[in-house]
Formats: sequence, structure tokens, C-alpha cells
Amino acid sequence: MIKLIVHANEVITMAGKGPRVGADMQKIGVIKNGAVLIDGQTIVAVDTLEQLKHSHPELVKQAQHIDASNQIVLPGFVDCHTHLVHGGTREDEFHMRLNGSTYMDIMNAGGGIHATTERTQQASFEELYNKGVRHLNQFLLHGVTTVEAKSGYGLNWETEGKQLLVSKKLHETHAVDVVSTFMGAHAVPKQFKGNEDAFVDVLVEEMLPKVAAQQLAEFNDVFCEHGVFTPAQSRKILEAGKKLGLVPKIHADEIEPYEGAELAAEVGAISAEHLLVASDQGIEDMAKAGTMAVLLPGTAFFLRAPFARGRLMIDAGVPVAISTDFNPGSSPTVNIQFIMNLACMNMGMTMEEVLTATTINAAYAINRGATVGSIEAGKKADIVILNVENYRQMQYFYGMNHTTTVLKNGEVVVRDGILV
Ligand code: NIG
Ligand code: FE
Repeated sequence: MIKLIVHANEVITMAGKGPRVGADMQKIGVIKNGAVLIDGQTIVAVDTLEQLKHSHPELVKQAQHIDASNQIVLPGFVDCHTHLVHGGTREDEFHMRLNGSTYMDIMNAGGGIHATTERTQQASFEELYNKGVRHLNQFLLHGVTTVEAKSGYGLNWETEGKQLLVSKKLHETHAVDVVSTFMGAHAVPKQFKGNEDAFVDVLVEEMLPKVAAQQLAEFNDVFCEHGVFTPAQSRKILEAGKKLGLVPKIHADEIEPYEGAELAAEVGAISAEHLLVASDQGIEDMAKAGTMAVLLPGTAFFLRAPFARGRLMIDAGVPVAISTDFNPGSSPTVNIQFIMNLACMNMGMTMEEVLTATTINAAYAINRGATVGSIEAGKKADIVILNVENYRQMQYFYGMNHTTTVLKNGEVVVRDGILV
């Protein structure tokens, strides 16, 4: 089936080399009155309609039209850091935080990640799967066509494995692509308190080999944080994963500076994530190593913490992606469009940079840069149409979901803002 998206006010292609660094993050590739030609699951060409009539006359004649008049067309958003699969919700803790408790106090008192771990351990595969489907539907309605999903609410093999198998089934059955990360090192289980190294051994000797043998994840993430995993423990877990073919990621410098950014550069992590309080040295190290910074302004907003220094990182030559961090504790939202606005308002990023950070750079943060993240010939036809007249309006009308149409692998999966 040939499809042609026509009469878009702007097609934002994001075409070109990635991941984008420095001033290149401004390059979003705007085609006014643009059109996108799609054959089956794949983008054939993007240009003005007049040009496409010349370059692909036969295909254009056959094509079924999708009208994008007065709207803009973008690559489907890539949400490169989520904790998609989990049991329960934590609105009670949000209530406590608004009354003065802190995130780490709640976690150290057995709540926080531990509370969600209990709910996730108790939940059946079907319950987790059905909840995952509901969340993926919400993502899709906001224009997100690929998500990364971390485990880490099991903290024992039975439940970590269950989470990863749920993610795998979601990937196989839902329109949204799900890319899996093992995050057994998300917290130290209560029974290992005071004996943290023994849990590190369980991760290294038992869980990581199973993840690799069963091919349940591509990435290995660690919460390197004061009171959770030390840099030395994190290094051990990440190096062990590397030997098994799992690519390192780090939750780094989220609450307190802990040389997580430095560690990410040192171990050759594909990305360091959060970085709210990353040091100047860590940022310099990441720029040298080419480590992607995955910034999560929704978490700073929801925890009322200082925002990451996105402007400084971009100017220092660090490639930057942004993401929701969707999870039940520190960022319970799927609205990547609002997250982009937070990055503009609170991290000094430009409208162009936040588009780069949620498409092509986010794709590179999860090793999908060759197939998604831009509208270019040969890439997957993952495309979103937004009901705004230009990309500046997208940020100007803030806090809203502008999505009207979503194509995933060339199929219309959202029409008029409703799931097909
Ligand atoms: O990315 N920092 C650790 N993990 C999550 C929060 C998880 C939770 O609170 O349930 C994060 O912020
Ligand atoms: Fe996270």
C-alpha cells in the first residue's frame, strides 16, 4: 500500500547525521508545504508535492492521501528512558512529599522503589501486561512510537524476569516498539541492607548471565546514587554486563553528585541519564567520550529538584536526548510534549534542540538511530501529525497534546486523536 502525507504546513525531517552535537542540534530540516511518500512500512521520499510528482510519478499517482493541511509532520517521538512495566501507583507518596517528606526519606523508610517492587512482585504476568498496554496506548496517543523500558521493580530473578518477558510481549503485540533494559540494580532489596555487596554478586553471577542467555535486554542500567549503589559497585555491575554483550547505561548524579557522569564516560556507557547535579568534570568527560546525556526534566519538576544543566551540556559538546522517565514515583507522565516544554523553560534548550532531543538523538540513545528518529528514505514510516501550524506553536500552546494522527510502520494507528 502506497501512502502520501500531503499539504503539511511543515515537515520536520530531522534528516542528516546523528547523534547531533552542539550547534547541529539546531538542524531540524523544515520543508514547507511538505509531503511524505510511504511504501508499506518504509519511507520512500520526503519533499514538496511538486518534487515528488517529478521524482516518483507512478507511486504518487497510486498513493492513498493523508491530509495534513494546517498541521505539522514529525518523526514519531522516541521515549528513550521509561520504567514502563510496574505494579501499582504512588499518589500517596506524592501527597506525603507535598506535605514535606523527601523522595529519599520515603525510599529509605521502605517506600518509593520498594513499594513499587512489592506491587510488581505481587502482580501476575497478565496484570502487568494489561497495565503495560494501557500505558503504551497513552504513549501512542501522545505521538510516541518507540519506548525504552527498564526492569528494576523485581530485585529478584523471578520478578525481574517477569518484567522483561512482559516488555518482550508488549513489543511483539503492541504497535509501539519496546526496547528493553535490565535494571536489576535499581535498589538494594531490604533483606540485603548492610550486605549490599552480596546483592551485587547476585546481579553479577546470577541475574546478568540469565538476561544475556535468554536475550531479554540490550542494555544494563544501574542507579548509581548515594545510599543505593556506589560508583565501585556500579562499575562492577556494568563491566560484568559488558562482558555478556549488554551495553551500559547509568542513572547518574540524580539526587546527589556522585561522579556518575565520570563513570559513564569511563565505562563507555551509551548514555548517562538524569545528571541533575552532574559535575563540570563529568560533563567534560562525557563530551570527550561522546556519551549521550538523557535528560529527564519531568523528574526535576515532579521532585522539585534542580534541573539538569542542559544548555551547558549542549554548549560543552555533549549529545543530549530528553525523555519522560515515565515511572510511578518520580515522573508519572507519558506526555513527552510537556517534557519538551519543561526542557525549553527550565534547561535553556531551544525549540529546535528539544525536537532533536526527542527524535534522532533519543533514537541513538537506544541504538535505533539507523531505523527511526528521522523522516528519511529507507527509515521506518513512524510518523506523527500534530495539530499546530508550525513547530513554534507546539511549545507555545504548552501542556497540551497536539497529536491528531500517528503512523507506525506505515499503518495509521491514531486518527483524529483516537486509537484506531
Ligand atoms: O528514574 N532513580 C531511580 N529510578 C527512577 C524512579 C523510580 C521510582 O521512584 O519508582 C527514576 O527517577
Ligand atoms: Fe529512571
